[in-house]
Amino acid sequence: METPIAVTDPVKNFVANNSRCAEIFAELKIDFCCGGDQPLLSACEENNLEPDKVYQRLMALLAEASTYEEDVSGMSTTELTHHIESTHHVYLKEALPRLSALMDKVQQAHSSRHPELVQLQAVFKGVREDLEPHLMKEERILFPLIRSMELDFQGLQAGAAQGPIRMMRHEHDELGVLLKEMRALANEYVAPEDGCQSFELLYKELEALEQDTHLHIYKENNLLFTAIA
Ligand SMILES: [Fe+2]
Ligand SMILES: [Fe+2]
Repeated sequence: METPIAVTDPVKNFVANNSRCAEIFAELKIDFCCGGDQPLLSACEENNLEPDKVYQRLMALLAEASTYEEDVSGMSTTELTHHIESTHHVYLKEALPRLSALMDKVQQAHSSRHPELVQLQAVFKGVREDLEPHLMKEERILFPLIRSMELDFQGLQAGAAQGPIRMMRHEHDELGVLLKEMRALANEYVAPEDGCQSFELLYKELEALEQDTHLHIYKENNLLFTAIA
């Protein structure tokens, strides 16, 4: 993996070198998954950030060893599919039902004073309804196909994955829109002063879901799918 050395490098290159850069991008609201091809410089300008300062922060982080999670940059496509399933997919299968229950509880208790919770619940429901079949399609169709392609030395299956990849990319884009909508409805995940502990927990967990999903989509769009193209 090429080391990013310039502020003009694409945002995704920074995350590819150290996935902890994703935490900085999430904090600064720089899109590193669907918008990962954008150069850091223009992403900063669009978000009214000082490119030099952001670049220095990223470089300081890249100088440290990654402790956030396994290094995915050297993985084969088969290894990547297993890694994505055993981390991001496992996380979502546990988190989505748990968050649905928490969302119901907070909505029932607080929506009279916080009507935005009704809409937030509806968008969250949409996220869950999109994600669950999406994970299943990747696990049952696309990932097994990608694994079989790695063993297909004659390239007989080349191109077979392109249709499913296009569909997954499209679904990622739709998911990205819903996540943005949830963040706006949830006041950037800052719980109101009159919110109880469950309210705070819900916002903390929804923000964690957003961060994990951004990293998840980044790995699929920019590492796994580009390796197949
Ligand atoms: Fe996935
Ligand atoms: Fe996906």
